[in-house]
Amino acid sequence: MLPRFLHPVLLLLGSTLTAFAGSSNSLLDVTPNGKHLIAANTDNGSVSIVDLKEKKLLKEIPVGDHPEGVSWVGEGPLAIVTVYRDDLIAFVDTQTRKVEKIKCSAEPYGVVVTKDGKKAYVSHDYPGLVSEIDIPAKKVVRTFSAGEWTRGIALNSDETKLYVTNNFTTTLSEIDLKQGRVVDSWLGRESDNLCRNVVLHPKRPKAYLTHLRSRVHVFDARGSIFPEISIVTLVPADKETKRRTALSMDTFNGVYVVANPWESALSPDGKAFVTVYAGTDDMNYSTTVDDDYSEIKRGGVISVGKHPRAVRFSPDGSELYVYATMDFSLNVIPWKGTAPAGRSSSIKLCDPPHTPEWVQGKILFSTSRGPLTNARWISCSSCHPDGSHDGRVWQNPEGHRKTPPMFGLAHTHPLHFSADRDEVQDFEYTIRGKLMGGRGLASGSNLKPKIGFHPIELEQKTSGLSKDLDALAIYTNSFQPKLSPHIPAKGKLSPEAERGKKLFFDTTVGCATCHSGPYYTDSSLKKPFKLHDVGTGDGPDEKMGPKYDTPTLLGVYRSAPYLHHGKAKTLMEVLTTYNPKDKHGKTSHLKKEELEDLVAFLKSLPYDTPPDETENTVPFRVKLKHPTEDTKTEGK
Ligand code: HEC
Ligand code: HEC
Repeated sequence: MLPRFLHPVLLLLGSTLTAFAGSSNSLLDVTPNGKHLIAANTDNGSVSIVDLKEKKLLKEIPVGDHPEGVSWVGEGPLAIVTVYRDDLIAFVDTQTRKVEKIKCSAEPYGVVVTKDGKKAYVSHDYPGLVSEIDIPAKKVVRTFSAGEWTRGIALNSDETKLYVTNNFTTTLSEIDLKQGRVVDSWLGRESDNLCRNVVLHPKRPKAYLTHLRSRVHVFDARGSIFPEISIVTLVPADKETKRRTALSMDTFNGVYVVANPWESALSPDGKAFVTVYAGTDDMNYSTTVDDDYSEIKRGGVISVGKHPRAVRFSPDGSELYVYATMDFSLNVIPWKGTAPAGRSSSIKLCDPPHTPEWVQGKILFSTSRGPLTNARWISCSSCHPDGSHDGRVWQNPEGHRKTPPMFGLAHTHPLHFSADRDEVQDFEYTIRGKLMGGRGLASGSNLKPKIGFHPIELEQKTSGLSKDLDALAIYTNSFQPKLSPHIPAKGKLSPEAERGKKLFFDTTVGCATCHSGPYYTDSSLKKPFKLHDVGTGDGPDEKMGPKYDTPTLLGVYRSAPYLHHGKAKTLMEVLTTYNPKDKHGKTSHLKKEELEDLVAFLKSLPYDTPPDETENTVPFRVKLKHPTEDTKTEGK
């Protein structure tokens, strides 16, 4: 193999790359002088400020619903925070605690800031956009289309290019900031999934993506989900270099299996590469190799506390910071060269949010350890991250099933497309079954996992058997939908959506006969359950159809693919291609514009806050501050 220094393209690109604070998205950021750290406490709706010299928490400042990204502006005291569920960007003066918020496109996720502190770039998840913010003016000045599901974001060192990841395909796209558009992209494999983060090498043209592999044809605790790192060589497509390499990380450290990589970091000299695993509560460390082939060399693995979601180095490379989000604390790990160099200490960042049961439920939902699974590869959150979905259709024993989001779940029981479960505690059968391969949470009870439809899962009461199982249900039932970004204002519809609403409630079209009530479903725990054959369930693999439970339509704008089998890629296809015989409402007589109006209405759901309590609401949940309630925008 040719020594790399002979490669002119790499040399040229390499000279323009250097790491600095705030250059890639994270829940953590450190000031360039190494004095202060800011952490986003997603479930608490706040940020914490840490004095890194004194090793103490200075303050916690409320910012809004689900902060997902933070970045210092220069050395501070100003910081920029993305408030994911409020669709706001917060300018936080960490000295005075003053918070000013501006409206932005939906679902702001990651944020990076230029070295001069004048510009910030924010990735927007569902809309697939990047917005450019003029920091002194506190204004969004440009938005670029960045593909779809844009989460990870990194800025190169001469600040000419942004690199962004697509969460569901893991595609890395390069945005040229002068041209304001995507100029190159590096595709992942079909099974690559959930890529929330990208970091750039400080000296060489390399991007490192943390993600999963979701092998949808395998229904097995040891074969469905894999942790991966993709390493991208940032050279143009016409160069004969291998542009993207995927490394399987599950057994990479040679000690034990790790699961659910959430974020990676490189040391300031680019020699050490670390990744935190939110499923197994640990971290791999390795050495980068300059060979375009093996890319990294095995170091070791250490435990880092519960559900780590973020990792950053100090600017001098002498410390590593890991946010153990379900310990609510920052681990400070002394560092030397490419390995840990002593015992870690911890700094508490915030109090546990909501209730102890909700917290325990989230820990169980997120873990890839016993008693949820014995195999260490998989967790509930591998497919249902933060109550959302994984964009995938799984080949389950009962047939093809798309992963549904869980927003509004407390009000829309029974569960599963085939309504074979009536309590979230019934997922003890999943835990003990082939998919999770765990011992289970209700020790002592002799619940046996089944494959396919077994009325026993409905008849057996599983709530109240175990505190942990009830806690898992409380967490799973606590997600509420947020207002659709496709509406002009709360409670209002666009003219197209208003026309679509009329069609939706028209008795000839008939949508509202099944999609009824505030959650747009007739699902009810009253027996017998109302299941409907809408002409979708006659595939050869289907073992439980053709009748299904009516899904909620709240949040349907962001939950493609559609129908139990996920064959409908768009809402239009649900109404046309997959409704040939008018069994799923009467749509064949509608003109193209009318169908478009109907789709516009579906995309607007919810346009108002749905009630927190209905006749069908289950008791095992926590009423969180309602995310669809109006948030006040302070300042401008
Ligand atoms: C391999 C991916 C995967 C994993 C892991 C997984 N699920 Fe699911 N989940 C799915 C799919 C696919 C469906 C739809 C199945 C159906 O309707 O038959 C589903 C459905 C559900 C539903 C019903 C939602 C509704 O609207 O009816 C709940 C609740 C749920 N899962 C909870 C869990 C819990 C709790 C765990 C962990 C013990 C878990 N899931 C693990 C993929 C997964
Ligand atoms: C007879 C009851 C019934 C009627 C009438 C009905 N639906 Fe449905 N709807 C269902 C059922 C059941 C499903 C699930 C089917 C499946 O997954 O295969 C569904 C699924 C959907 C989905 C996909 C949701 C998802 O998350 O995948 C959409 C969108 C939808 N319906 C919209 C409509 C519209 C618009 C109308 C009127 C034209 C309508 N439905 C009429 C029962 C009904």
